[in-house]
Amino acid sequence: MGRLSGKVALISGGAEGLGAATARALVREGARVMLGDIQIDKARALARELGDAADALLLDVTLPESWDAAVAATLKSFGKLNILVNNAGISEPGGVSSVSKESWARTMRINLDGVFHGTQAALPAMVAAGETGSIVNMSSMLALRPGGSFAAYCASKAGVAMLTKCTALECAANGWPIRANSVHPGAIETPMLERYLELMPELTREQAYAGFAENHPMGRCGKPEEIAAAVLFLASDEASFTTGTELTVDGGGFIRD
Ligand SMILES: NC(=O)c1ccc[n+]([C@@H]2O[C@H](COP(=O)([O-])OP(=O)(O)OC[C@H]3O[C@@H](n4cnc5c(N)ncnc54)[C@H](O)[C@@H]3O)[C@@H](O)[C@H]2O)c1
Repeated sequence: MGRLSGKVALISGGAEGLGAATARALVREGARVMLGDIQIDKARALARELGDAADALLLDVTLPESWDAAVAATLKSFGKLNILVNNAGISEPGGVSSVSKESWARTMRINLDGVFHGTQAALPAMVAAGETGSIVNMSSMLALRPGGSFAAYCASKAGVAMLTKCTALECAANGWPIRANSVHPGAIETPMLERYLELMPELTREQAYAGFAENHPMGRCGKPEEIAAAVLFLASDEASFTTGTELTVDGGGFIRD
């Protein structure tokens, strides 16, 4: 009996990185998962690898109608929806005075609006399932501890943390058995972090990773599986009295002095 046996999850940004690691962890524990991503070929390839317990669809988190279609497809494939992992996100550098208006708007649309649209689309189906449910929103260490050259990212992820708390309160106030929590990773070895290496051509790969690692008192970057383990806990009934919390998974990065 897996920790998520009988549960159905929808994961945004499930094609690679933290979303893919989360999908693997949830399937390993008995869940069936729908992978939603703009990278549909990669999402389909992962779904094939995971077998009957997984399916994939094209999802653009910025579009409410895309979310409605994703929820409908999840119900069609797996019959219900219990777990929503709002994981899709982007990270673009830029301080308040230097970030372009396009980058600011794109970041807010994907990172914050995307979580709102996903939550609004999924909640009715999660309530209708009549079972315990969980919403896990991927925020960041940078929601709690500012990074001056990541203004849009920090602001969007702080918004995600607050939206999560509002979601948690609304579910509780309505008596819905659905919890909502945010996860706050430090620097984790995913394609997102790899793309930052391209912005630092003056550094070797080792030097760049050593720089990221310095932000974590534990002295290293994290692995996607370490974030997936936190999502798994919050998604499962093991976290049955945990709602509205911010779970840091950052090697002590938030509390560093
Ligand atoms: N990797 C890190 O160091 C780190 C740290 C803190 C928080 N996070 C957060 O974790 C989440 C996952 O990050 P990651 O490192 O796996 O990134 P990633 O870039 O490796 O993967 C992100 C996934 O989201 C998808 N995506 C992007 N825009 C989308 C859209 N409009 N609709 C649907 N899917 C879309 C991408 O196609 C990709 O598959 C993000 O929200 C990110 O901000 C990552």
